[in-house]
Amino acid sequence: MKILIVGGGAREHALAWKLGQSPSVSEVVVAPGNPGIGAVARCVSVGAEDVEGLVALAVREAVGLVVVGPEAPLVMGLGDALRAAGIPTFGPSRAAAQLEGSKVLAKELMREAGIPTAGFAVFDDADAAEAFVRAAGRPLVVKAEGLAAGKGVVVAADEAEALEAVRSMMRDRAFGAAGGRVVLEEVLTGPEISYHVVSDGVRYVALAAAQDHKRLLDGDLGPNTGGMGAYSPPPPFTPALEAEVLARVVEPTLEAMRARGTPFVGALFVGLMIQDGRPMVLEYNVRFGDPETEVLMARFAGDALPLFLGAARGDLSGVSVSWEAPAAMSVVVAAAGYPSSPRKGDPVEGLEAAAALPGVQVFHAGTTPAAAPATGVVSGGGRVLAVTATGADVDEAAERAYAAVDAVRLEGSQHRRDIGWQARRR
Ligand code: AMP
Ligand code: GLY
Repeated sequence: MKILIVGGGAREHALAWKLGQSPSVSEVVVAPGNPGIGAVARCVSVGAEDVEGLVALAVREAVGLVVVGPEAPLVMGLGDALRAAGIPTFGPSRAAAQLEGSKVLAKELMREAGIPTAGFAVFDDADAAEAFVRAAGRPLVVKAEGLAAGKGVVVAADEAEALEAVRSMMRDRAFGAAGGRVVLEEVLTGPEISYHVVSDGVRYVALAAAQDHKRLLDGDLGPNTGGMGAYSPPPPFTPALEAEVLARVVEPTLEAMRARGTPFVGALFVGLMIQDGRPMVLEYNVRFGDPETEVLMARFAGDALPLFLGAARGDLSGVSVSWEAPAAMSVVVAAAGYPSSPRKGDPVEGLEAAAALPGVQVFHAGTTPAAAPATGVVSGGGRVLAVTATGADVDEAAERAYAAVDAVRLEGSQHRRDIGWQARRR
């Protein structure tokens, strides 16, 4: 079977690499892909948000499955358009994608279904939001209602910061229409866990837990980013916690989506904070995490196609997953200036040496071909590479991933040295 993967980052590189190894997959097409993906799949220059172009591509290529990487096309209705054309699609409908596309819908669903999450209030009016902040007298989290590319969340340390966040979102529209409504919620504390399940709308298959590192700098300092590195398995996530998350979060969420007539098909990523030993939901994402996918695909045992195809066809019965590598880690190498103003066009060198190291896969996140006569790739985005390695435990995965990071040369690049600190002994 020929398959199409939509997207062009390290998550899609990892998906293309893994699904391309399936004995049932004859060819992987990726739109738009990137130079790294081009080594494992055929890239076609159709944008990830060009819904019409993607449907036409899927029909023209007669693919048997489309896997949608990022959330934006799902919120735009790519899943519905592909299914209307008769193509099995891994990814939710536009209506079900609102679980990520609308923070208000997500919070209301959690409240109705009794799913543990921070207390919250919703505001359409900046004056009322500001009055609430002044009356609260404690730190608050300010979230823009709509998609803001992971940037519409401010964990405000004090009243002044919360007021500033409300002003910038609601009055200055720093995130456009996404800031027309804001959610103000209680600040939670504790380790964060990225938990993924794959659902066919009714059944689900749980994947291994992972942990991302959102802040730019070691010690969880500096600005929030799209994610600077991930590893799996994270020790704070015990089997007892997992059972609690399935019973109190995953099952009620999937049940509520079905009850609303918007069953969830695809990867449901539950962002959790473990506060005083109890899992609390920070957010839902309606797609795989990045860089979580890189570690999950690196650990995955055997053929991944049945999982993706089963969900897309609405029948995951008989599908189970296991983990070949006991641990994996992915360290993001970001461009100079990331996250505020990443510098593009710097040569990325040492990729072959890095990829030749044991257990290592170098996934490309934001690279572009160097302009002729130069060869190779240059930085083309904020996160440039997700350097990934497996190991017998998190320590070994870390040693291998960092050996590979050290083999890569990218001027001014930034990466964290402490990915997996909660699990490392050395
Ligand atoms: P979100 O996009 O909702 O995941 O938020 C981005 C980041 O903000 C999360 O990964 C958390 O680190 C942080 N965050 C979100 N909500 C809360 C909360 N209620 N309390 C503390 N931190 C939060
Ligand atoms: N790594 C966090 C995310 O994909 O949203």
